[in-house]
Amino acid sequence: MAILVTGGLGYIGSHTVVELLHNGFEVVIVDDLSNSEKFILHNIEEITGKRPVFYPFDLKRKELLAQVFDAHKIDGCINFAAFKAVGESQEKPVDYYENNLFSLINILQEFKSRNISNFIFSSSCTVYGQADVMPIDENTPLKLPESVYGKTKQMGEEILADFAKAYRRKISLLRYFNPIGAHPSALLGELPVGIPNNLVPYVTQTAAGIREKLSIWGNDYDTHDGTAVRDYIYVVDLAKAHVAALKKLMGHPEGETIIDIYNLGTGKGSSVLEVVEAFEAANNVKVPYQICNRREGDIVVAYANADKAAQELGWKSETTLEEALRTVWEWQKYLASRN
Ligand code: NAD
Ligand code: WQD
Repeated sequence: MAILVTGGLGYIGSHTVVELLHNGFEVVIVDDLSNSEKFILHNIEEITGKRPVFYPFDLKRKELLAQVFDAHKIDGCINFAAFKAVGESQEKPVDYYENNLFSLINILQEFKSRNISNFIFSSSCTVYGQADVMPIDENTPLKLPESVYGKTKQMGEEILADFAKAYRRKISLLRYFNPIGAHPSALLGELPVGIPNNLVPYVTQTAAGIREKLSIWGNDYDTHDGTAVRDYIYVVDLAKAHVAALKKLMGHPEGETIIDIYNLGTGKGSSVLEVVEAFEAANNVKVPYQICNRREGDIVVAYANADKAAQELGWKSETTLEEALRTVWEWQKYLASRN
């Protein structure tokens, strides 16, 4: 029983591969290394004692994808592979639509023709935009995302729902809030390319002296300390949710139409300043910062109601913000030791 994990050497994918291997699944990874590095495969093996099968190619190459399905009995897929930089997606919309949607459709063609079910999709809280009511549950109305990246997620969800209905397949749409942290072994983590856009990688690089100062984008929002609020979910907890979602899908008989949707977050909002303070406290380091103007397009507050995942998947976030931020610092030290 093999699970195809696309983007399995990426940030969330690599942590999920580890959890799948711990749970006895056979894993086949396809990743074109466009945003990841080969050493992650060795580190997965170091953590688990198992080396997953790995194919380095672009999922847009349909003929290569078909060969993977010929070579392995694939019983399901977790599709992490996508471009994910919000700003870049505005500058390169065609590339984002092509990469994020063509790869998805190519896998679905194989699923369709080979009669395979069980598909898990990496979606995002970005599909809710600035929700009117907090916390955000799965019935919160979707808003057309401002970014092309966000639109690829919303379109991906629609494509999958149509696929499930038309061919009676089982799918799970997992809407992640803000994933952070690294593996406790410090062998896996996020590999930001260039100047990070996301908060936690920027905080980490500032603490490490790679960046001079963190810019906090606005402290005049209508929140308790004026800075924007998000729901930061620890990546290993998030990875475990994928295993739970997959097991649930596999528990339903073939031929059933299942469209599961889950918000994956902690249920707790943290402000930018709280993240900075938690990082400093967790790691006993200083993070110099300055207050700047608001970042265009930013939402003010987003945090999840993750009760549905708790009830139906038996899954809950377990790790505190401080614990998660400690793992990031260990990962940063590991990266520095490699250079
Ligand atoms: P990541 O960039 O670390 O991982 C994605 C992996 O997919 C990379 O290893 C990349 O090399 C690979 N890839 C991309 N396009 C490919 C293609 N055409 N063929 C083969 N491989 C390809 O990103 P991540 O943070 O691990 O995110 C995983 C998924 O979760 C993405 O779909 C992302 O949109 C989604 N997501 C991420 C976040 C977040 O903040 N990290 C939040 C919500 C949703
Ligand atoms: C968090 C907060 C910033 C950097 C993005 C994507 C979204 C989703 C998650 C994938 C905000 C503030 C940040 C900095 C700062 N990804 N910040 N200084 O904005 O929630 O969402 O990642 O699906 O689609 O848009 O995350 O980490 O960029 O920012 O003050 O240098 O930190 O303004 O309030 P965000 P983020």
